[in-house]
Amino acid sequence: MENKKIIEVKNLLEKDLKEEIDLKSLNDLKVKYLGKKGLITELNGEIKNVLNEEKKEFGMKVNELREKFNHYYDSQKEKLDQEELNKRLEEEAIDISLPSTKVEIGAPNILEKLIEEVEEVFMSMGYDVVDGPEIEEDRYNFEMLNIPKGHPARDAQDTFYIEGEEILLRSQTSPVQVRTMLKGEGKVPIRMICPGKTYRRDDDDASHSHQFMQIEGLLVDKDISLSDLKGTMDVLFKRLFGKDVETRFRPSYYQFTEPSVEVDITCVNCHGKGCPVCKHTGWVTVVGAGVVHPNVLRMSGYDPEVWSGFAFGFGAERLAMMKYGINDIRIFYNADLRETGTFDREDEE
Ligand code: DAH
Repeated sequence: MENKKIIEVKNLLEKDLKEEIDLKSLNDLKVKYLGKKGLITELNGEIKNVLNEEKKEFGMKVNELREKFNHYYDSQKEKLDQEELNKRLEEEAIDISLPSTKVEIGAPNILEKLIEEVEEVFMSMGYDVVDGPEIEEDRYNFEMLNIPKGHPARDAQDTFYIEGEEILLRSQTSPVQVRTMLKGEGKVPIRMICPGKTYRRDDDDASHSHQFMQIEGLLVDKDISLSDLKGTMDVLFKRLFGKDVETRFRPSYYQFTEPSVEVDITCVNCHGKGCPVCKHTGWVTVVGAGVVHPNVLRMSGYDPEVWSGFAFGFGAERLAMMKYGINDIRIFYNADLRETGTFDREDEE
């Protein structure tokens, strides 16, 4: 004879297992049947009230119920977990067939690229790359470069003055020579280059820009001569434009160098044969340079009887124009990123 309580629980269980279920109600069911005060758990406690000869069968029936529930629980749990996972996967799925937003790919600006190349050449020869202020004092931009007030050499550099006669936008990177020597406090060797913006009150046209990039160089040591400068210029231009490029010096005049020279290189457009770029001479002037004037050394704390040096300065745009076949300097300063290589042309649609 089946125990009445067992039959009750069994009926209840059969009814419950037919109900629709989710993870939450599945857990509630577990508590209802197998929890501390669960129906099956309580049946276990009933065993003491059962006649001795029925105890065994009673125990087996209770076990059957427990197993039935556990079996149900395990299979439902697995099914519901899987459903839950599928739902999440579906919700979070990325539709890889959707067109993506177009990412514009940048590229190095060609002026910047040229400056970096120049820096690499000089760094490989032990030079430091230094910086100087664009808002400069008259004494560094002119006076300590041996260009006193009222000197006609100032007229060549139509300068933007900011405050009175003392504060200006530097018209050349040469003041960085002075600053570097002052910092060097008489110590040698000094080997520096300084790329940086410079400003002049020029009217902008194909070959002039009121703002342009110069690269300055200075070397101070013992027994430095024009031939050291020549060797250095040769290395620079062969590295930039190829082994066939030749360098020549022509006498020139700068207040802060003595002697001063203009450095020409063979025209990279026609390889020296003569073309409109080199005005049919086969040569293009690219650098102003010379042996540092004794006055400049002295004013910056270097005894010209002991030390000597060379200095040079050139426009970066001019070299970039030659290297990349550009014929208008304004291209560097208008906003068309395709012109300066900053926007990768191949990436355009
Ligand atoms: N600063 C000169 C200019 O802007 C260029 C120059 C010439 C720089 C001779 C130098 C140099 O360092 O030695 O025209």
